[in-house]
Amino acid sequence: MEVIVAKSAGFCFGVDRAVKSVYDNIDDKPLYTYGPIIHNLQVVEELEDKGIKVVNDIEELLNLPKGKVIIRSHGVEEKIYNYIRDNGFSIIDATCPYVKKIHRIVNDYSKKGDTIIIIGDPNHPEVIGIKGWSSSKAIIIESIEDAKKLQLPTDEHICIVAQTTLNYLKFQEIIEIFLDKGYHVDIKDTICRATRDRQEEAIQLSGRVDKMLVIGGKHSSNTRKLYQLCKNQCDNTYHIETIEDLELLVFSKNEIIGITAGASTPKNIIQEVITHVRSTE
Ligand code: F3S
Repeated sequence: MEVIVAKSAGFCFGVDRAVKSVYDNIDDKPLYTYGPIIHNLQVVEELEDKGIKVVNDIEELLNLPKGKVIIRSHGVEEKIYNYIRDNGFSIIDATCPYVKKIHRIVNDYSKKGDTIIIIGDPNHPEVIGIKGWSSSKAIIIESIEDAKKLQLPTDEHICIVAQTTLNYLKFQEIIEIFLDKGYHVDIKDTICRATRDRQEEAIQLSGRVDKMLVIGGKHSSNTRKLYQLCKNQCDNTYHIETIEDLELLVFSKNEIIGITAGASTPKNIIQEVITHVRSTE
């Protein structure tokens, strides 16, 4: 058996930075994270055991003793910063700098009166956060069909940004639709390089293995996208969270196994999976 692990598997720079910010402040309680710090149940539970509380919204926070609130790498809407500060809590901002950059773009262009188009998942916290930095009209587009359907006045100025984890090919396709419609568009490719590298490596790897394992939280959007991309190349692709999900999978001696992992998957979980797969040989 050959096991090939993608070089880009695991924590990206932004997630690593956010998790570190929790550990750097761990002795300074009460300490809260605004939403789970990463889409990884094991890490979140471990932090809860150490007394770090996840708060899911402002109302919940307001009923808690004053303390520090960590904003996770996805970022939040502008008004959330104000609510937190106005209510006597302090902020540790672990928003990924690449997401912060999108907030700045959206804020600047919306102040000029441009319509903001965000390509991404409307239910994802990063996208909700990005929309919350616009002071003008902001529209979220999730699919190629959404882009085709959208009708705007042709003299409208439009600024297009993307969720950092968006599939690059989908971005290109949607941009083409907007250009064909003849709008005045400013296109900002805000897809994170770490995401693109991870996706490209996953596509290549899954195209040459017998089985492909994609490790990451079931709610992690970047892991789900990785899974989809790998599944297109390799029918035997499996999205797993921990080694428990591998119980029913059989690996045979002659197989080549590929492994990649989403941006919020810790090294120790990746290592456990590698060890488990190798031990079945
Ligand atoms: Fe930031 Fe890219 Fe990670 S945007 S949080 S480094 S996937």
